[in-house]
Amino acid sequence: MNMLNQSTLLVRGLVVAFFFSALTCLAADPDISKLPPAATKQGVTYEKDIKPLFENSCLKCHGAERPKSKYRVDSREATIKGGSSDDLAVVVGKSEKSPIVLFSADLVEEMEMPPIDKRDKYPALTRDQIALIRAWIDQGAK
Ligand code: HEC
Repeated sequence: MNMLNQSTLLVRGLVVAFFFSALTCLAADPDISKLPPAATKQGVTYEKDIKPLFENSCLKCHGAERPKSKYRVDSREATIKGGSSDDLAVVVGKSEKSPIVLFSADLVEEMEMPPIDKRDKYPALTRDQIALIRAWIDQGAK
């Protein structure tokens, strides 16, 4: 094989590798245009507005007793901190980057919360509820 052929092959390989990595990036990026906008309500707090909305949809799996993925939503601190993934569940000030919002809005495949096959018992959050969580996070997750 001469030099020219070798470098052509190398360039082809690089082009293919580039397209594949671009594709995986696209697949992994949640489509945040599908999120409901943050609610306009001011002064949103965990105790008053957010904790009650976890009650039916999240608390059975993410409460004190054997929480799934070691993630608890029964205190403000734990809700923000996240679980065994070691990722923050709430990125304070950035609701569109917060796993809790993206998972609840079904924008991350395999991480839809509540899990899709459990929704007969644990209903999905409504768009209004997700909008309120966004407002809470964007206002500083107080
Ligand atoms: C029926 C049980 C169940 C319910 C209800 C449920 N989850 Fe989960 N959740 C899980 C399981 C199981 C995992 C681990 C999934 C995995 O890592 O593959 C998980 C993981 C998570 C994580 C990742 C935690 C980490 O850092 O590892 C977040 C965030 C989360 N859930 C949020 C929620 C929210 C918000 C709700 C309510 C809207 C909810 N979940 C309702 C079972 C549940």
